[in-house]
Amino acid sequence: MLSLDAFNLLLDPEHEHACQQLIQDLGIAPVSPSTDLTCRFLLIFDHQSRLGLIDCEADRRRPYYPEISARRQNQGIDPLMRAIGHRANLVVDCTGGWGIDAAHIAAHEIPVVAVEQQPVVHALVKNALNRCDNDKITKNLSWLQGNSIEYLEKMNSAAEVIYIDPMYPPRPGSAAPKKPLKLLQAMSAGDQQDHVALLKLALRSASRRVVVKRPHYAAPLLPGKTGSTESKLVRFDIYPTSS
Ligand SMILES: C[S@@+](CC[C@H](N)C(=O)[O-])C[C@H]1O[C@@H](n2cnc3c(N)ncnc32)[C@H](O)[C@@H]1O
Repeated sequence: MLSLDAFNLLLDPEHEHACQQLIQDLGIAPVSPSTDLTCRFLLIFDHQSRLGLIDCEADRRRPYYPEISARRQNQGIDPLMRAIGHRANLVVDCTGGWGIDAAHIAAHEIPVVAVEQQPVVHALVKNALNRCDNDKITKNLSWLQGNSIEYLEKMNSAAEVIYIDPMYPPRPGSAAPKKPLKLLQAMSAGDQQDHVALLKLALRSASRRVVVKRPHYAAPLLPGKTGSTESKLVRFDIYPTSS
């Protein structure tokens, strides 16, 4: 994961309190608008108090503002929800990312605990969640910062369903990923993630099933899946459990 030294926060008198809070919570250095920027990533607030992220090495330095909202719901052809199960009582999303999948599950009135290890990504999504006007999502989504391996190890009781969406390596020759995914990839550069270890632990920690998102071109993370649901680009591998 990229060190927090790679991030700066643009000081903004309109959002002084929120800026100080972020500096304290994340330990990132503030910069004033007149400073020459040398950082890789810059956090900024806009007029609507949205927290955004600029990749200073990108060709176009336009901020990305994550949004948490409900995706169109269609039970018949919703591969994520078919894999999770519409009657799940609790889902632990071990790879929170931009919170898109977690929010989608929560919008179906299923309680979700989502864990994101990257503190800046966590802060950006937390800000987006504070702006979210979908009651089902805000009521059902708990957004935590930390390592999900540690979270699963400390969990008191089994989670019914565990969801894992690992970052997969780009396939040579395929189209460049969209901006949000590109940002996540840049921020987790150098990570030696052991997603197999995470899946093995998840299989011991879920009472009903573990769901793993994979691109079509990638093999399952582990043998033992009993089925999968599919969309055009991805597959959701289903591993039943019985802890
Ligand atoms: C491909 S993204 C997930 C995208 C997410 N499903 C969404 O809807 O936005 C993978 C994310 O998992 C996070 N991650 C990977 N391993 C983790 C772990 N052990 N604990 C917590 N977060 C982890 C990475 O930091 C990254 O943000």
